[in-house]
Amino acid sequence: MNTGNINHAFLDRILDGSQTDVYYHFGLSSGDHLLERMRRVRAIITAGSGERIMEFAEKWSTLNGGAEILDFPKDDRFTARYTAGILFASHGMGMPSASIAVQELMRMLYFLKNGDLEAMDKVFWARVGTSGGIGLPSGSVVVSTEGLMADLKPYRLLKGADGEYWFNGRFPVTTCQEIIKANTDSGLKVLSGKTVAGNDFYLEQFRLDGAISFETPETKMDWLQLLYDNGVRNIEMEGAMFAGYLNHWGFSRFAMICATLLNRLEGDQVTSTPEQLQQFSKVSGLVLFNYLKTFFLEHKSKQPLPKDRKSRSRNQTGKDYARPPWPR
Ligand code: URA
Repeated sequence: MNTGNINHAFLDRILDGSQTDVYYHFGLSSGDHLLERMRRVRAIITAGSGERIMEFAEKWSTLNGGAEILDFPKDDRFTARYTAGILFASHGMGMPSASIAVQELMRMLYFLKNGDLEAMDKVFWARVGTSGGIGLPSGSVVVSTEGLMADLKPYRLLKGADGEYWFNGRFPVTTCQEIIKANTDSGLKVLSGKTVAGNDFYLEQFRLDGAISFETPETKMDWLQLLYDNGVRNIEMEGAMFAGYLNHWGFSRFAMICATLLNRLEGDQVTSTPEQLQQFSKVSGLVLFNYLKTFFLEHKSKQPLPKDRKSRSRNQTGKDYARPPWPR
């Protein structure tokens, strides 16, 4: 972990009790009893929609003998559930929304692990989602090697008035390979590739079917070809930020797994039937769970599951930046 990039000035006051941290968009604070029951968290799984989060939590609970699912008290912004050592949380659509969820989850994790960097680094993070494929049949699953913006440069934000913060969008190679290996016999089309995150589903993904469109068929195809030639295999809306923030703190185990809903070389509109779409979005979950089953169930003799296996009842409850790999 990169301690120099952690906001100790704020976060350590939470640990010593001189201040409470309010994870506002998740509706709880560091003083809530619910957090005490999540100290043994080993993975944080995120997805755009709250419905998927609830499905994932149900499935993980079932795989863990019906472990209790803890509900977060608020879900008007994000939906979150904790069960059997995994925190599942939605992040909404796009980097402004997802960055809020990721920042609050990072703060929560720092609190849950009492600032222990080694313990934090053991936690696996994932974003599971949907995307537009480039040169891939619908329903393929891309495990990202790097998250870039639409200009093929990494994620960056304005730095006060005098420049930009640049983030490193690379995903850890080992984790990517482990996920693909865990799916070798799944019969699913799972591959690795770079991923572009657009700030708009239409404009920054060079679509011709938006209410506003600045592209021509030629400029769109040139862009898609440029992406393809640079190793990009899919386009979504969060990955460059997701990898950038997690790299900033120095996490070593995180991934993005996205199913493709369409092949952008063949069109812009998502025209699949609801049944096909459901199937496409299901496959990224299957790929995730094949990995979770390998590393979080089968290794349980080494890493015991949390002791929250109970009968089924619902509980209410810096200044040092990653060096830009791109010339400024
Ligand atoms: N999500 C995106 O961001 N783009 C697509 O084309 C499909 C899903």
